[in-house]
Amino acid sequence: MAALIHKTLNANEPAPNLMDYRAMRATFSWDIACTERAGLPHGGLNIAFEAVDRWVASGQGEVAALRWLGKNGERRDISYTELARLSNRFAHSLEQLGIGPGDRVCVLAGRIPELYITALGTLKAGAVFCPLFSAFGPEPVRVRLVKSQARVLVTTTLLYQRKIREQRNNLPDLEHILLTDSDGSEPGTHSFHTLLETGPDHRSPPRTQPEDWALLHFTSGTTGTPKGAIHVHQAVVAHQLTGRWVLDLRPGDIYWCTADPGWVTGVSYGIIAPLVNGATLVVDEAEFDARRWYAILGRERVNVWYTAPTAIRMLMKAGTEATQGHDLSALRFMASVGEPLNPEAVTWSLATLGRPFHDTWWQTETGAIMITNYRTLDIRPGSMGQPLPGIEAAIVRRRPGGGVDRLEPGEEGELALRAGWPSMFRSYLDDAERYQQCFADGWYLSGDLAICDIDGYFWFVGRNDDVIKTSGHLIGPFEVENVLMEHPAVAEAGMIGKPDEFAGQIVKAFVALKPSYVPSDALRKELLGFARTRLGPAVAPRELEFMPDLPKTRSGKIMRRLLRARELGLPLGDVSTLESENPEEPDA
Ligand code: WT7
Repeated sequence: MAALIHKTLNANEPAPNLMDYRAMRATFSWDIACTERAGLPHGGLNIAFEAVDRWVASGQGEVAALRWLGKNGERRDISYTELARLSNRFAHSLEQLGIGPGDRVCVLAGRIPELYITALGTLKAGAVFCPLFSAFGPEPVRVRLVKSQARVLVTTTLLYQRKIREQRNNLPDLEHILLTDSDGSEPGTHSFHTLLETGPDHRSPPRTQPEDWALLHFTSGTTGTPKGAIHVHQAVVAHQLTGRWVLDLRPGDIYWCTADPGWVTGVSYGIIAPLVNGATLVVDEAEFDARRWYAILGRERVNVWYTAPTAIRMLMKAGTEATQGHDLSALRFMASVGEPLNPEAVTWSLATLGRPFHDTWWQTETGAIMITNYRTLDIRPGSMGQPLPGIEAAIVRRRPGGGVDRLEPGEEGELALRAGWPSMFRSYLDDAERYQQCFADGWYLSGDLAICDIDGYFWFVGRNDDVIKTSGHLIGPFEVENVLMEHPAVAEAGMIGKPDEFAGQIVKAFVALKPSYVPSDALRKELLGFARTRLGPAVAPRELEFMPDLPKTRSGKIMRRLLRARELGLPLGDVSTLESENPEEPDA
């Protein structure tokens, strides 16, 4: 085990926002935190109002809310005042289109300013914001548009042409498509900017209530189509507190979250938490590049940085040379999320950047950080840390007949959280049964396996299901298998996460062919290309192996666990333990 990282306070730095973790944990109450959120002038609560307009009202409107760094070297600041105006205009445009409370507005775009305006304007209109990852292919996009029943999609001309246009007739709910770079040549679309121009800068505050729907984030399970996790405006209480206590954000900070807003981190911590805490959020449109990243950290004088283990491992690979010539002295706090943060990454960051990365654990469903290492507390490298004040975490085992038992320190089991925090998801869209299955005896069951040590630090072990984590993105095997099954040569397909040095896991496909087809390198490439065209590079398998047939249960379900065991060289004979790992997954 890597040595403990001992923390001492640096007198030259601002005092930590959460000075005494234990005292706060002993006294904290969400009820009080919720009342402390000032909310809307006439009552109610709205995430966008908390994030933007409140700062304008209190005289900080000229501070940069967003610093956009374009792929080609552009640099544009958008102040809180300007963001308030633009999001007002967008909210107005939505209303003009007849979009109102509860309606879903999806966005499919890279990290461009219009995405941020859409998110905040949608929330102001009382509608539900749903981001779609721009590296999704046409099929994941279609599935999510159908399931969300989106009435509006904001996207770019290129993404529209590549992923939407051909299937538009199969999207009956989708009434309006707003192109951020429209030149008027795409029939059946609106120009985002023309619509914005017609709107007023000011409008009366939104009318949303704490329990009104605000955000829809799709996430994946072992089976079935993606699940749409619904979050409400009240979630902003958890975004604000975790931004303040965990990321140690304060007004005036320059903050960079490298996560894409196509996923929950890029919205909760790439938009909401930093703005609610009055920071300037750096948005880089470009993809990962070690030198570019260090240049951004140095030139923009980033104070707080939130990134992911895959990126950290790539920075490690780039070597210390890449940091040279960049003054990283403004960095005060660094955190990581999405996959296990290996101890080497923590010790590397301490040696190379002069600060350790702080692991944070949470999920789409939890809406905000739940377990973490705090600025003031010692770090046990490899551990996810301790629960947020207000969060009770435990390791449990599901009882066969329902309910759960709490396990002892040191015992491995499922990580559970006592239900009822503000950013807890309120439902899976149109799937009450799957929602209910996530709870037992008042606990939310995370699906993660973990251990809690005697001092209350949590250690991640793995998942208790078949979902795949690749570069921090959660991929549902079923979604990938479904697409491969559409190819005429494929009889059976099974996906697993294959361990990878950088991405954590990569998606690997096992395929059994129909009788008239023979395995060949050409066919393997064709199948990989087929999957990539439909699913997009973020989801498609990177490796594919042919098998005469795939291991199945008596009822015909593919046993991904056996595929995994085979890949990892685990004893195949040990089928009983492999199967019993997941009590939820009956084999017949
Ligand atoms: C799953 C949730 C967290 C928001 C972005 C991902 C894994 C998350 C950690 C961590 C080890 C982690 C878990 C979790 N995960 N954080 N610090 N250490 N694993 O949200 O896509 O819903 O994924 O990511 O397996 O269940 P998500």
